[in-house]
Amino acid sequence: MKEADYFEVKAEIVSYKKETSKIYSCIVRSEQISSAAKPGQFINIQICSALEKTPVLRRPFAISHIDKDCFEFIFDIVGRGTEILKKAVKTEKTLNILAPLGNGFDISSNVKEKLLIAGGVGIAPLKSLVQYFSNKDCNTTLIWGNRSKTHFFNLDFFIDQNLKLFIATDDGSTGFEGNVLQLLKSEINNKNLKDLKKYDIFVVGPDPMMKAVSGYVQEMNSRCQVSLETPMACGMGVCQGCAVKKKNGDGYYLVCKDGPVFYSDTICFN
Ligand SMILES: Cc1cc2nc3c(=O)[nH]c(=O)nc-3n(C[C@H](O)[C@H](O)[C@H](O)COP(=O)(O)OP(=O)(O)OC[C@H]3O[C@@H](n4cnc5c(N)ncnc54)[C@H](O)[C@@H]3O)c2cc1C
Ligand code: FES
Repeated sequence: MKEADYFEVKAEIVSYKKETSKIYSCIVRSEQISSAAKPGQFINIQICSALEKTPVLRRPFAISHIDKDCFEFIFDIVGRGTEILKKAVKTEKTLNILAPLGNGFDISSNVKEKLLIAGGVGIAPLKSLVQYFSNKDCNTTLIWGNRSKTHFFNLDFFIDQNLKLFIATDDGSTGFEGNVLQLLKSEINNKNLKDLKKYDIFVVGPDPMMKAVSGYVQEMNSRCQVSLETPMACGMGVCQGCAVKKKNGDGYYLVCKDGPVFYSDTICFN
């Protein structure tokens, strides 16, 4: 996993879509970023709308899909920045974007079985991985959990990718009733999933979910990669605001520079 060169571009906003009550996707055009980006890398947006005062700090989002000279990102409206971003994608012509940033997933493994586990909007970076593996000789399994049925989106895309899809909801409104870890254990018990040592595993979601799932993966003598969404200030390795403790006790990694993807057994979750 290594840091890549990045570009600052004014990317044309091609389209946007309201995916759920709080989640939007946006497609922008940048040949430079689309051709350089690898699965798991992220963009940093200077959120700017003629209708609002611009937040000082950029906001980071995963690249979720690439199509020729365009790429997609998906954002959940959680605060002021993403509220303004929602207005910007509707009213502006371009977005100022720094990308591709971060290391991206380690995709060097020859293991054919890929197991991707997403919690909520953690599906965004995993979507780029689904796209990548769909062009390789791999068998991809995706487990995706959400609070309820109304939080799912892009299901047609995943169904079209010829992968094994398992869905969980906390309230049981669709799929398995429970969280992704309970679903994972249940499908291993039911022999619908193999021994975890047979998979190349990727987990993205809220920290408690990644901590719980990667703890279980390690108990099963396997390992997984996680993509951290630690709040960032500079996003460029300067402010030290995104530090995460190394597992070996030897200091800290910077999520923006050394990550956002790590093998879970190399970090302490915050
Ligand atoms: C590498 C990386 C990739 C990311 N990819 C995506 C993505 O693809 N889609 C997506 O929707 N979000 C993603 N995020 C999270 C996203 O950057 C934040 O949700 C966003 O910056 C919040 O901005 P805001 O101004 O709306 O919220 P703020 O006003 O800054 O915060 C609102 C609330 O959200 C919380 N919050 C802020 N930032 C984060 C964060 N990083 N993680 C968890 N809680 C946070 C705050 O504590 C607060 O409670 C990613 C973050 C990182 C670091
Ligand atoms: S966000 Fe400033 S060092 Fe990572």
